[in-house]
Amino acid sequence: MHFHIMTLFPEMVMNGLNTSIIGRAADKGLLSIEAINIRDYAFNKHQSVDDYPYGGGAGMLMQAEPVYQAYKAIEERINYEHKGDGGGCEEYMPKKPRVVYLSPQGDVFHQKMAEELAQEEDLILLCGHYEGIDERVLEEIVTDYVSIGDYVLTGGELPAMVMVDAIARLVPGVLHNDVSAEFESFQDNLLEYPQYSRPEIWHEKQVPSVLLSGHHANIEKWRREQSVIRTAKRRPDLLEGAELTEDEKQLAKEFIENEVKNA
Ligand code: ADE
Repeated sequence: MHFHIMTLFPEMVMNGLNTSIIGRAADKGLLSIEAINIRDYAFNKHQSVDDYPYGGGAGMLMQAEPVYQAYKAIEERINYEHKGDGGGCEEYMPKKPRVVYLSPQGDVFHQKMAEELAQEEDLILLCGHYEGIDERVLEEIVTDYVSIGDYVLTGGELPAMVMVDAIARLVPGVLHNDVSAEFESFQDNLLEYPQYSRPEIWHEKQVPSVLLSGHHANIEKWRREQSVIRTAKRRPDLLEGAELTEDEKQLAKEFIENEVKNA
C-alpha cells in the first residue's frame, strides 16, 4: 500500500512516521509513505501558497492551484506506475485515487473505516493549514472528508499521521503476529480483555489464576467474558453493534444493572 501525504510540513509527518513499526514496515517494502510538499507547486516567485479569503474574515486560506498541481503530479505518477505493472494491458483505465481531506467537518474516523481504507492500493491524504483550503479544489479532488475527533487542531498533519498508523498496521505482514490485529480492541465491537505479564504477583496483585492454568478453552472463555464486561463498563455504546450470545447479553445486562444499583 502507498500513502501519499500532501502537506506544507513534510518533515513533520515523515519524522513521525519513519520510526517504530510503521517505519520498519516501510523499510521492508511492505508499504511506502511519501510526503509531498504543496509549496513545491506554488506558482509565484515567493513560493507563497496562501491568500486572504474573499468576503473577509480571520486568517489565510490555502489557494486552489498549488494543491491541484500537487494532486495532479501524484495522480499521474500513480497511473504511470500502475500502467507499468499492467503487463502492457491495452485497456488500461486511469485510476482516480481516493483523496482524504482531514477536517473537523468530516466523518469521524473509526476502526471499520481504517479496515476499508486499508484495501486501497494508493491513498492520498490532504492536510490543510491556516483557515483551510479554497473550496473549489476540494470539490474537484476530494473523495472523503475525515475528522479524527470533535476538536480542532492547527492542521491536518497529526490527523493524517493517526490515520496512516491505524491503516498501515492492518496491511498484511506489518505486525509480527498476524493474529494480533484481529483480537484486540474494537474487534467485533468489543474492547480487548485485560492482559498480564511477569511477575505473577506485583504490588500484592495476583495474576488471575485461570491464566496460569494452561487450560486454553477456559482462558478463551474468561477473556471473552472480560471483553464483554469491560465494554459494558467503559464503552456501553459499542455493545449495540457487537454479536453476543444470549449468555453474554445477560452478562452485560447484569453488569450494567449492578453499576446502576451501586451508583
Ligand atoms: N484538522 C483540524 N482539526 C482536525 C480534526 N479534528 N480532524 C481532522 N482534521 C483536522
